[in-house]
Amino acid sequence: MNCWKVKKLQVQNFRNLGKDVFDFSAGINCIFGQNGNGKTNLLEAVYLLTNKKSFRKNTSYSQMINIEGASPEMIIQSVFEKDDDQVAYSLRMTDELEERYLNNVFEKSKTPSTSVFINPFDSYSFHTSSTFRRHWFDSHISLIDKEYKQVLARFQKSIRFRNSILSMGGKNASSQLQAIDEQVAEYSSFLTARRENFLNELNQHITPTFKAVFSEDHKLELDLDSMFVHWDATKIFDFYRHQEMSDIKAQLTRVGVHRDDFIFSFDGLNAFEFCSLGQQKMAFLSLIFAYIELFRYKFTSYPIVLIDDVSGELDSQRWKNLISYLETKKFQVLITTANESFRKELERIPESKKFFIEHGKLT
Ligand SMILES: Nc1ncnc2c1ncn2[C@@H]1O[C@H](COP(=O)(O)OP(=O)(O)OP(=O)(O)O)[C@@H](O)[C@H]1O
Ligand SMILES: [Mg+2]
Repeated sequence: MNCWKVKKLQVQNFRNLGKDVFDFSAGINCIFGQNGNGKTNLLEAVYLLTNKKSFRKNTSYSQMINIEGASPEMIIQSVFEKDDDQVAYSLRMTDELEERYLNNVFEKSKTPSTSVFINPFDSYSFHTSSTFRRHWFDSHISLIDKEYKQVLARFQKSIRFRNSILSMGGKNASSQLQAIDEQVAEYSSFLTARRENFLNELNQHITPTFKAVFSEDHKLELDLDSMFVHWDATKIFDFYRHQEMSDIKAQLTRVGVHRDDFIFSFDGLNAFEFCSLGQQKMAFLSLIFAYIELFRYKFTSYPIVLIDDVSGELDSQRWKNLISYLETKKFQVLITTANESFRKELERIPESKKFFIEHGKLT
């Protein structure tokens, strides 16, 4: 099995990065540099190219274009490689438009590959915030299930509409709610079933992945915390009809897929309540690597794996385990660090390529 990997990358006017051409290896690429020099920006450029949006929340073109740049356009050019095939892929953005080109031909949707971004700092948010967890699952399911993405967007629109009816109240609220509840019930049943299905598939990978990465035996499991599990659309519709009066009183939809949660257990206990910070991070990393395995299982190809400074909280033995795991894998990795000790570990990887970034430039 082989998959599309980013071979060359050059940006113009993207954040603080200069016009250097990054010539990546198909295996592990280590990106070193002190704080605030452009390592995460480089990962963001790859992510933006492959996933059509940034991994930074609420970031838009005006934040991404170089603040000191003279030209009002931002360009990311790249070459992707798979076996003996090569394609050129580029993105051009201005504050009005976004154009993509495959081998210099205007291209609407196809990207050569997808990236998965691993920011270990997200571990804390994942374990402590249900909103973060919901967003994490929704975006990661959407990446491998286009129908989920579409239905989720329709569901969110319906819930916004339902909440606006509830907040306005009035004589016609009840009949308007009845019509929208049919849609909400149908979407809810679909999304719950897909979430359940995704968790079942992910659960098959997560315990073995934890063992493969950290050489320890622990049982990790994810569960959906929702009252709609195994409910069909009719049953959910009836539920919303019964909820009507109390929802009108509260002026919002209090129960539903938009408020469901995901429970992560570690040896049968809640990972957040039971685990140390290091164990939480190990569990979170195993979750993402399990997701990457699931991705490969679905598409028979790996995504590009972008890992932004993983060193905090993990001890040196865990770093070594993680690096050994990455060395056995067939996916392309771009991994950054500002940590000197972790850098020394990464520098020992014989086959890896090293990049040093200072003030946005390759040194
Ligand atoms: N639109 C922009 N134009 C120019 N510079 C920008 C822009 N957006 C961000 N920067 C600069 O990019 C730098 C941050 O880059 P980045 O987040 O990639 O750093 P880093 O090397 O990952 O640092 P750390 O090790 O702290 O994570 C900051 O100095 C910031 O001021
Ligand atoms: Mg960074």
